[in-house]
Amino acid sequence: MKGVILAGGLGTRLRPLTKVINKSILPVYNKPLIYYPILTLRETGIKDILIISGPEHAGQFLDLLASGKELGVNLSYDIQEEPKGIAHGLAVAEDFADNGRVALILGDNIFEDSLVKAVQDFEKQEKGAKIIIKQMPNPERFGVVKLRGNKIVDIIEKPKRPPSNWMVTGFYLYDSRVFDMIRKLKPSGRGEYEITDLNNLYLKEGTLTYQKIKGRWIDAGTFDSLLEANNFVAKKFNHEIFSKNQRKKYFPKNKKRGRKSFYLAL
Ligand code: TTP
Repeated sequence: MKGVILAGGLGTRLRPLTKVINKSILPVYNKPLIYYPILTLRETGIKDILIISGPEHAGQFLDLLASGKELGVNLSYDIQEEPKGIAHGLAVAEDFADNGRVALILGDNIFEDSLVKAVQDFEKQEKGAKIIIKQMPNPERFGVVKLRGNKIVDIIEKPKRPPSNWMVTGFYLYDSRVFDMIRKLKPSGRGEYEITDLNNLYLKEGTLTYQKIKGRWIDAGTFDSLLEANNFVAKKFNHEIFSKNQRKKYFPKNKKRGRKSFYLAL
């Protein structure tokens, strides 16, 4: 399976930080933000990765990441001419996907949990798509799932009254029909080709599965969530490099060790 990172969009909520720098290149403690989605994909065994960005900042990714060799991945690059939504951005990856399955991750998403199991389960799934959902106190900024028992019955984009507190994170797995599915979409009220509409097409077909995650998940697209991401990674990183005794002293409450290779990688 190949991977796609979407790093287009305008990043208006982070202006002026994003005026000349792409959101996904902004620093998160000791690494640029995009390193985290790259590491998340790499950890699942996905090494062929396409980075899609808008025309304004595309050169920055090449300058920063080049072939991807240093990070142990093979990178390709492409352009989404206009930021017309996440599903619209994914459509750019059609040739790259080469009739295979794709894992899509948003360039501003940080996952604490490993997604290895989700990818392995999806590889066994005959067809369809898989999403990763997470309980959040204020899910109304995102796509929110309506559950009946253990079954997802609807996904609603930015609902005023969320039907649950389970929201859809920025990691998605799709079968090779995804590009035909995207062609069926129409722009939403805000003029975007919505990833939620794409996921609902698979849901209607009865082929959308999901995995719940418990660990931290951060969409670093606002000043507060970018700060949260910095603090989270700083704590994780330092937690990993300190000795057992130092950890006891500095992080008495946080006894659980993280995935060492992940936070110390690179
Ligand atoms: P958003 O945070 O929804 O959009 P944005 O990055 O343009 O930010 P803002 O709302 O502050 O203007 O996007 C989530 C991720 O998806 C982010 O990594 C950018 C990416 N994206 C695209 O690649 N193309 C698009 O058309 C859109 C809307 C987003």
